[in-house]
Amino acid sequence: MDELFIYNFLMLCLGLSSVFVFIALFFIPAGYGQHVNKKWGPTINNKLGWFLMEIPTVIIYIIYYLIGDRKTDLIPLIFMGMWMVHYCQRTFIFPFLIRGKQPMPITIIFMGITFNGINTYLQARWIYTFSTPYTTNWILTPMFIIGVIIFICGFIINMHSDYIIRKLRKPGETEYKIPYGGMFRYVSCPSYLGEITEWTEWAIMTWSFPGLVFAVWTFANLAPRARSNHLWYVNTFTDYPKKRKALIPFIL
Ligand SMILES: NC(=O)c1ccc[n+]([C@@H]2O[C@H](COP(=O)([O-])OP(=O)(O)OC[C@H]3O[C@@H](n4cnc5c(N)ncnc54)[C@H](OP(=O)(O)O)[C@@H]3O)[C@@H](O)[C@H]2O)c1
Repeated sequence: MDELFIYNFLMLCLGLSSVFVFIALFFIPAGYGQHVNKKWGPTINNKLGWFLMEIPTVIIYIIYYLIGDRKTDLIPLIFMGMWMVHYCQRTFIFPFLIRGKQPMPITIIFMGITFNGINTYLQARWIYTFSTPYTTNWILTPMFIIGVIIFICGFIINMHSDYIIRKLRKPGETEYKIPYGGMFRYVSCPSYLGEITEWTEWAIMTWSFPGLVFAVWTFANLAPRARSNHLWYVNTFTDYPKKRKALIPFIL
């Protein structure tokens, strides 16, 4: 079968599944972290879980870079740099810094690997093979300039918010506390806000359907979780800041 047909089919499936995921997660929060639940089945160590879930993003991207035919083109190299900075951090650093010990359900890991595997294939195959080649002039387009600048802002918000969360616990502690500072002044889940910002800007700077599907999927996955986390904070801590929103400052 023609690879382009399979590629488009996978992109359609991912796009349609985002609608299902968005609705389902409002009723059933993904069973890890504060929402861990025995109904999600057997679990493994969370550091190993994060590593297994994220490693496809690095390996599959490199494979499609190597078998693609634009290895030395400037714009695809910049895209790869941004992708790798985010995903190498998430795969090789983030799991080994987290202080939580909540085990992670194998079901969640399996779903994460499936999404990351398909999505990385869609993004890398697009950039290195199926798109009209990005020429060096792309660097001067508003899509690229705005996309890169706001992507970096999203990355910084994501990293800084993960850092604040991590520092809430001393080594060995496992209880949950109220985070303060940074973008937590405005929202309960700024790391999700940063993540959604990054991949929305990825869609803009690549100006592509696969990028759009990734951005929509990220929102569909993280917006309902931000709501669940926010409600959990409000119901757990009587002194939780009243003006703090769930995901979007002053709005939502
Ligand atoms: N691209 C995507 O679709 C996607 C999906 C999911 C996550 N992510 C990213 O992955 C990163 C982590 O996400 P996550 O959902 O695991 O975030 P999280 O809820 O912030 O949990 C991360 C770690 O912080 C701990 N923690 C959370 N809230 C805490 C609190 N109030 N007090 C003390 N410790 C607390 C957790 O401990 P416990 O283990 O004990 O709960 C866990 O070890 C974020 O940057 C997120 O953007 C991306």
